[in-house]
Amino acid sequence: MSDITLGSVDDIPIGEGRAYAVEGRQIAVFRRRDGSLRALDAVCPHRGGPLADGLTDANVVICPLHSYTYDLSTGAEVANGGVGVTAYRVHADETGTVHLDIDGAAQGTEPRHNGALSRMICHLSTTTDRST
Ligand code: FES
Repeated sequence: MSDITLGSVDDIPIGEGRAYAVEGRQIAVFRRRDGSLRALDAVCPHRGGPLADGLTDANVVICPLHSYTYDLSTGAEVANGGVGVTAYRVHADETGTVHLDIDGAAQGTEPRHNGALSRMICHLSTTTDRST
């Protein structure tokens, strides 16, 4: 477990998300209306939309660019059959400090490769001229 302190939970308005740069990754932390927190990769694997800026309800965030919809607890894409994002363990302690476990997928999820990375690898493998 790698515990990363992100700051005060009060930096995240209730019902919204905020993006954090963590060890070279962009992570979106969402503060649900019940006060609980959820954390997902912040970059939408469809075309790189900013998930922290998406609309949320109790269970999902909707990407603001093309409305792919991600389960806040698992990171699964639930509306279009798209690639999911990694969900991370996150909580606020008794002082209101947000802690992220960058190495730990949230319960019931497995870390996934970011779809943008997968597309880049696919693009490179199909555009590289190997005939020379
Ligand atoms: S970039 Fe997120 S749905 Fe297209």
